[in-house]
Formats: sequence, C-alpha cells, structure tokens
Amino acid sequence: MSPIQSLIKDLADQYGRKRESLLPILQGVVEQEKYLSEYSMVEIAREIDIPAAEVYGTATFYSFLEVKKMGRFIIRVCKTITCSMKGKSQVLFAIQDMLKIKIGETTADGRFSLLETNCLGLCHKAPAMLINNEVYTDLTPEKIREIISDYMTK
Ligand code: FES
Repeated sequence: MSPIQSLIKDLADQYGRKRESLLPILQGVVEQEKYLSEYSMVEIAREIDIPAAEVYGTATFYSFLEVKKMGRFIIRVCKTITCSMKGKSQVLFAIQDMLKIKIGETTADGRFSLLETNCLGLCHKAPAMLINNEVYTDLTPEKIREIISDYMTK
C-alpha cells in the first residue's frame, strides 16, 4: 500500500465511508500533501465507493484541486455572494497587502498560499475564510492583520 493509500484509508476509518465523509477526507489529504493529485482523487473514490467524477466535482467546487504544491498555510477566502456583499474585497486586499501575493500565488518563503473558494456555508457570519482547516468568520481588515500576524510567527 502506498503512503497516500494508507493516509486515505486512515482518514476513511476516522470519518467514515459515506458521501458526507468526502469533504473531511479531501481536507485531510490536502493538509498532509498540500495538494490533491489525480491519483489521490481516484484512491478516495475507490476507498469510499463513489464515482471519481464526484470527488473531482467536490474538489473543484471547494478549490482543493491544486496542481502544484502549496504553502504551509493555505488561505481560502470565500468569493460567493454574501461574503462579496459583506466586505470580502477589503479582506482580500488586506491579505494581499500583508503577504505581497495575489490570488493563486505562494509567498517566497513557502509559508502562505492565497486562494478563493466557493461558499463555505458560513454566510451568516460573512465574510469567511479558511486557513488550512481552521475557520475564520466576521472578518475585517483589522481582524485579518491579527490573524495573519499570528500565522507569521507559527
Ligand atoms: Fe461566503 Fe457563504 S457566501 S460563506
């Protein structure tokens, strides 16, 4: 069994082999590997017995589908309507200004990557973002400066 296969098996043991297990398993793989390869997606589909197209669809929807290695901390800012209306642009601007990277880029030290994602289901606390698996809500530029400064020292 390859290291990826055993990782996926462990995650499936932990989260179950149901459709609802797909997202936490994807997150677990990305956390470990920093990106999601085609091989991983096929293995996940096989492990929880769903079509590979469904794994691919979910991964694409949540922007987990990275073709290159990402930074240690992957920031995913929600770009969907409620977050957009509640200040996502200012949030994004504050992150870009601090890290000096644009969406899709990784800082030179390999610490942060910045991405956008679709609705995280946290619209009532918009704007929202994820840093790896950690959820941050009700964001403001001030809050961003605190959060990112904290990650800079990790
Ligand atoms: Fe951003 Fe739903 S629109 S969390």
